[in-house]
Amino acid sequence: MTSDRLRLGVNIDHVATIRNARGGAHPCPVRAARAAAAAGADGITAHLREDRRHITDADIERLTEALGELGLPLNFEMAATPEMQAIALRHRPHAVCLVPERREERTTEGGLEVAREENRLAHFIAPLREAGCRVSIFIAADERQIEAAHRIGAPVVELHTGAYCDLHHEGRFEERDAECARLARCATFAHGLGLEVHAGHGLTYDTVGPVAAFPEVRELNIGHYLVGEAIFSGLDSAIRRMRETMDRARRAALGAGAA
Ligand code: PXP
Repeated sequence: MTSDRLRLGVNIDHVATIRNARGGAHPCPVRAARAAAAAGADGITAHLREDRRHITDADIERLTEALGELGLPLNFEMAATPEMQAIALRHRPHAVCLVPERREERTTEGGLEVAREENRLAHFIAPLREAGCRVSIFIAADERQIEAAHRIGAPVVELHTGAYCDLHHEGRFEERDAECARLARCATFAHGLGLEVHAGHGLTYDTVGPVAAFPEVRELNIGHYLVGEAIFSGLDSAIRRMRETMDRARRAALGAGAA
């Protein structure tokens, strides 16, 4: 069990989505990363998709440089493809998070099917680990996938909180609570195997608390909601409020000094 400070990774993909709606350079994801750093983010997350629908190769170049200067880690989300592996090996980000990717999806809909692809993924992550990247695998709350992630030698799993958040916003509270309990069990199970546990996807001020309260979770990655809230309150205020909401929930669950 661990109660160390919960890290917040701010995902800036959708700053790029807004920029790309018009082309040009505004709003700039690197500027958002600097603002996130000033607001207390512990890291920046960015997903370079095969279709480059938000973050681009040039963004990754500039982010790597800017975050290096700020001393802030980059969590590079990517599909397990040779193209992305080559890009990651060139930039050597602090962390690589492997996610499933389908062109027709609007966002990352499910977790990676590690159990079905163990051999390929074990070979895929080996050079990334040798290059010093902390590899995490984005998975649904499913013990089979956690065991498979452990077997292939990934040091971190990120639990997909999207289903839990959707159920909350649809008002399906019994199912939401069951999914939340499943996430909690999986966090304990993964931690018991020696894996570092992260969580993310779809989290909001309303849904972050119960997940922040899982003692085994060390990092949350949050993006879309923060960028949306930034329209109303500014990015700095949105990140600070998320940080406070996470920390309050963690302190309440784990006792003073735990956030
Ligand atoms: N974690 C992972 C692995 C993701 O793929 C995403 C979405 O890119 C997030 C966290 C953040 O999700 P959201 O933008 O819904 O907060």
